[in-house]
Amino acid sequence: MEFRKAKFTDVEAIHAIVNGYAEEGQMLARARNVLYETLRDMTVAEEDGKIVGVGALHLTWDALAEVRTLAVAKEYSRRHIGTGIVERLLQEAKEIGVKTVFTLTYRPDFFGTLGFVETSKESLHHKVWKDCINCPKFPNCDEIAMTLTVE
Ligand SMILES: CC(C)(COP(=O)(O)OP(=O)(O)OC[C@H]1O[C@@H](n2cnc3c(N)ncnc32)[C@H](O)[C@@H]1OP(=O)(O)O)[C@@H](O)C(=O)NCCC(=O)NCCS
Repeated sequence: MEFRKAKFTDVEAIHAIVNGYAEEGQMLARARNVLYETLRDMTVAEEDGKIVGVGALHLTWDALAEVRTLAVAKEYSRRHIGTGIVERLLQEAKEIGVKTVFTLTYRPDFFGTLGFVETSKESLHHKVWKDCINCPKFPNCDEIAMTLTVE
């Protein structure tokens, strides 16, 4: 299993994994233009030339970043690929001086294993909500807010 930064040639595979889960209501859909624009945020997991997982670290505000667009292809789940992706995103966060990483998720069980703790949405910086305006669920967000302090 190789973890590396994403390239343009990965976008179709990322689109398929993320939007497959989005159709099931497990995460938010991502249009191709958003994937292209945020490609530098993304880390992928690749096995035998196939993209099997993705996750993104999106810078939000001073020393604040979000883990988003995290998905592992179903047939590869529970092999700690999601963990490997988030660990790399956290390393990246540390290198650029991020102090707090947050996520909005339906999977607190998974993020809890990585040390994220549940918090109230109101406690997040208001800049966080800029992207939410484009979400089909806005303003009725049913995701769980979690944060992690980067050590
Ligand atoms: C959430 C997701 C990224 C996890 O990826 P993964 O590679 O399967 O997760 P890992 O193997 O790294 O799991 C690490 C730990 O998290 C917990 N965990 C992961 N999936 C779980 C599940 N379905 N139920 C309960 N606990 C779970 C377990 O403690 C697991 O450790 P263990 O397998 O040794 O018990 C993946 O299931 C996924 O893509 N889900 C759909 C999209 C999604 O919900 N994305 C999250 C952002 S909203």
